[in-house]
Amino acid sequence: MLCLSYLTKTWGRCPRSLIGGIKSMKNKELLNTVNALLAGDKGLLAMDESTSTINKRFEEVGIPQTVEYHRAYRELIVTTPGLGKCISGAILYDETIYQATKAGVLFVDKLKQTGIIPGIKVDEGTTGLAGFPGEKITVGLDGLSQRLAKYYQLGARFAKWRAVIAINAVMPSRGCIEANMHALARYAAMCQKAGIVPIVEPEVLMDGSHSIKKCFDVTQKVHHVLFDQLFAQNVNLHAVILKPNMILPGLSCPRQADIATVAEATVTCLLQSVPAAVPGVAFLSGGQSPELATAHLNAMHVKYKGKLPWALTFSFARAIQQPAMELWKGNDENVKVAQEMLYHRASLDNAARRGQYTPDMEKKFD
Ligand code: 13P
Repeated sequence: MLCLSYLTKTWGRCPRSLIGGIKSMKNKELLNTVNALLAGDKGLLAMDESTSTINKRFEEVGIPQTVEYHRAYRELIVTTPGLGKCISGAILYDETIYQATKAGVLFVDKLKQTGIIPGIKVDEGTTGLAGFPGEKITVGLDGLSQRLAKYYQLGARFAKWRAVIAINAVMPSRGCIEANMHALARYAAMCQKAGIVPIVEPEVLMDGSHSIKKCFDVTQKVHHVLFDQLFAQNVNLHAVILKPNMILPGLSCPRQADIATVAEATVTCLLQSVPAAVPGVAFLSGGQSPELATAHLNAMHVKYKGKLPWALTFSFARAIQQPAMELWKGNDENVKVAQEMLYHRASLDNAARRGQYTPDMEKKFD
């Protein structure tokens, strides 16, 4: 430790071989984290809803919107029996990373005990993008290096930054895509410097009446700009996980797509826009029903197993949590059944990663 801090302070005077050695130690750590996150049939659980988002979800199911209810709900999640068999990494929110179970065990420690790597959402949400009415830019780069150092000390080994891209007749603009992908690349570079694996999430939203083809074209363009920016910012692609949307028609598009079409469009889009150096692609669920999100992931594995350069996995929030939250309703007596549901959904997503999911597996909770 002494030696390392000395070397950091005297970086400019360090022999090249020593700098290379430290850099490769960091790279090794990043690669170990990536490998552990993508291993086997496990996936990621996003439990990083911001205060306003979790309050909105709680309100929809009649749960009081207080910090204590946030804590109790996150305790329900991290103490779910067997969760570590299904989940390799859990993304926390700033409020949550400092919280603990009623018995006083920090959530971060509870996750680590069950073999789950703690991660952290580090963007600070979105704001209107000046010059582009109706479009959003994700903020949080100021002070990010310091926050990453603190989160590393708290035990986080990977992070998430979400950019949102909306589709309508005139959106997305080139300005919106470029500003957001530049911010994602700057975030990713800072994460890697801090020994934290960046999840880069350029989410093309499902809202709207656009066709599946439009979603395909926009997503492909967004990925091209993203990887151009990651390259420009010297980000090591081997230590990045992409968190994209699946290729879907807009929620109010009159022509919806079947499962095989979504699976094929999604993988085709990724093959045309994601370099093979990227080790893993972890989908968001984006407002799909849990059953559909699982079925789409499964169909991709059935059709393309062994033919893809990257691992295909999940990083769902709603598609894992929503049914459990609805069962819990904020009542202690519902914790057990809610945990069983959470485990059930996560294990169905494991089956999807193996290409072994069938809709009749849903029946356990009918
Ligand atoms: P959903 O799976 O609910 O889309 O959330 C994933 C996520 O982490 C969004 O940032």
